[in-house]
Amino acid sequence: MKVLLFGKAGQLGWELHRSLQPLGEVIALNHPEIDMADAANIRRTMRQYRPNIVINATAYTAVDQAEGKVDLAHAINAIGPGLLAEESRDLKALFVHYSTDYVFDGTKGASYIETDTPNPLNVYGKSKLAGEQAIQAVGGASLILRTAWVYSTRRDSFVNKVLQWARQNESLKIVSDQVSNPTWARMLAEITTLMIAKPGPDFGAYFHERRGVYHLAGSGYASRFAWAQEILKNDPQKNEQIVRSLEPACTEDFPTPAQRPLFSALDCARFEQTFGLRLPEWKETLALAMK
Ligand SMILES: NC(=O)c1ccc[n+]([C@@H]2O[C@H](COP(=O)([O-])OP(=O)(O)OC[C@H]3O[C@@H](n4cnc5c(N)ncnc54)[C@H](OP(=O)(O)O)[C@@H]3O)[C@@H](O)[C@H]2O)c1
Repeated sequence: MKVLLFGKAGQLGWELHRSLQPLGEVIALNHPEIDMADAANIRRTMRQYRPNIVINATAYTAVDQAEGKVDLAHAINAIGPGLLAEESRDLKALFVHYSTDYVFDGTKGASYIETDTPNPLNVYGKSKLAGEQAIQAVGGASLILRTAWVYSTRRDSFVNKVLQWARQNESLKIVSDQVSNPTWARMLAEITTLMIAKPGPDFGAYFHERRGVYHLAGSGYASRFAWAQEILKNDPQKNEQIVRSLEPACTEDFPTPAQRPLFSALDCARFEQTFGLRLPEWKETLALAMK
């Protein structure tokens, strides 16, 4: 089995590069050797390696910067993934791609299921939704895994930012009106790998039957404020914190270029039932991630 992973240096890609190893030969690429905004580069790479499984962990993820980089975000998040899907279909390869809770507008008032109507509020969300649509228009065995609030303890994530702020400020204000599923990149990578390994050698037919969109994120949901409380609680070097008070704030207190959905939590029951895998509760996972 030959696996081609795009985006090995990202939060998720770094973990996938490790978790995928038992599946077979893993070829892992990153920017600039692969440029998701360059169609010729994408096609050449796919035809050179001829993989059985293609996993796209690349994305233009700078949500606020995307507001001023509409074409670039669209190229990386929509056109590139569409080309990967097309090349994968032609090679009869499984294509695994990730999307986001930001395809929703956050007004439902309950966790989103896969059949809810998307209505992205910002350029990033629009580009990711266009990517989903481009992949689905191609056909083939593709899985679009929508995830949310991905963090790693290695990179510049919300977890590391909160730890840093707690060492620099006596008082912190964190928004309590944005709610979603904190998702550890390692958990996401390991569950993706278990899902791919599930059917064994005849994986083509198995995934073709199950192709489509799934929600895959940490179980349960939290506000950013509640998430920050747990981060401070699990800090392995609490003695370095100088923060004395953590207070809830409103999104409108912190204006940003991109509008964000307020309640974009994902209901992941469809994924759990289809693939027989349990998604651990976000608090359990955070505690493990921070040990
Ligand atoms: N982070 C979140 O909170 C979140 C939430 C929901 C969904 N998701 C989705 O989950 C997936 C993984 O996200 P992540 O957090 O792991 O993202 P990430 O850490 O930002 O990693 C993205 C990767 O894409 C690469 N990349 C950017 N532009 C590229 C280009 N033109 N060509 C090739 N590679 C390029 C980056 O390389 P450089 O580092 O060199 O730029 C980086 O390795 C993405 O599909 C994302 O949309 C993320």
